[in-house]
Amino acid sequence: MAKRFVIVTGGAGYIGSHTAVTLHEAGFTPVIIDNFSNSKPEVLEGIAKIIGGIPEFHEVDCRSQSVMTDIFQSYAAQGEVIGVIHFAAYKAVGESVKKPLEYFENNIGSTVALLGAMNASGISNLIFSSSCTVYGQPRKIPVNENAPILTAESPYGFTKQACERLIKDACKSNASLSACLLRYFNPIGAHPSALIGELPLGHPSNLIPYLTQAAAGLREPLTVFGNDYPTDDGTCVRDYIHVLDLAAAHVAALQWLEENDASCEAFNLGTGQGKSVSEVIQAFEDANGIVVPYIYGPRRSGDVTAIFADAAKAQRELGWKCERSLEDSLRDAWRWQKKLAE
Ligand code: UFG
Repeated sequence: MAKRFVIVTGGAGYIGSHTAVTLHEAGFTPVIIDNFSNSKPEVLEGIAKIIGGIPEFHEVDCRSQSVMTDIFQSYAAQGEVIGVIHFAAYKAVGESVKKPLEYFENNIGSTVALLGAMNASGISNLIFSSSCTVYGQPRKIPVNENAPILTAESPYGFTKQACERLIKDACKSNASLSACLLRYFNPIGAHPSALIGELPLGHPSNLIPYLTQAAAGLREPLTVFGNDYPTDDGTCVRDYIHVLDLAAAHVAALQWLEENDASCEAFNLGTGQGKSVSEVIQAFEDANGIVVPYIYGPRRSGDVTAIFADAAKAQRELGWKCERSLEDSLRDAWRWQKKLAE
């Protein structure tokens, strides 16, 4: 049978690596494109151990449209290229405030180049890695896909909005191009094998990588950013989704694009349940039987008070929903942290 290739830009990254594994399990052949700007070659070894073979891989910067076109065409000659899943992007909110030009250049530039390479190679399905950050602090939660897109709080958030817009416009101008804009809530956890997971380079700015490093004694106690928010316990509320549930949604979205005559559709990907920072700490302690050292500190600028997903559209259209609990995610995150420390 002809191979069914799926191009995964940023496939050595956190969500990309889990999606590559999930694609393989669903019968696709993932083709990873990554320049290791925020990942490491060892990730490919972890993927290889899970899928039982070295994945297709190209060390390329996605902004090189001609190189990307050559790669796409070489796979089209060997089988069918079903689509592209575009993860490759810079993703640190704080860093984006200090380096806006780099963020615009990399995140928007790579998406423009990718769309050009897809056009040149006749690839018609695109899945874009977006974020609930496009909603800012929504007036109504849970937030659905019709909520207004608010002015972005950070250059990072702006790049997600801009890429969504340019993909929408590209779909309008090219009837054969279809796309899903997947708006992630807070991805956490790791593959239960602990062979792949999140590899934060340097000081982690996200909650779970910091929490697990603090629990392992590798960092100062976790600072909970603010306990005076208007929530039940005063700490911010988010929707934490297991990275493998998120990965499964990409496969479902790709299959949906193959089967439907869609143009460009946005989907929220979350559990639909909001959890506060204090609840997450408690759940981590309960799931793993260890104590998390933490202190309360001031609010972090740019944080929204509470956001969680109305993911009914993804369930209805894609036939997808989360299978794993917060405790599953936190157990897998801790198993991965212990593996990193070996
Ligand atoms: N938090 C702490 N202490 C920490 C780190 C985080 O208390 O050391 C809190 C934050 O204040 C927030 C929650 O934990 O309330 C989650 O913070 P993260 O940094 O893990 O995640 P965010 O919700 O801020 O950001 C995530 C993604 C972004 C995305 C954003 C959209 O990391 O890419 O959701 O809301 F843009």
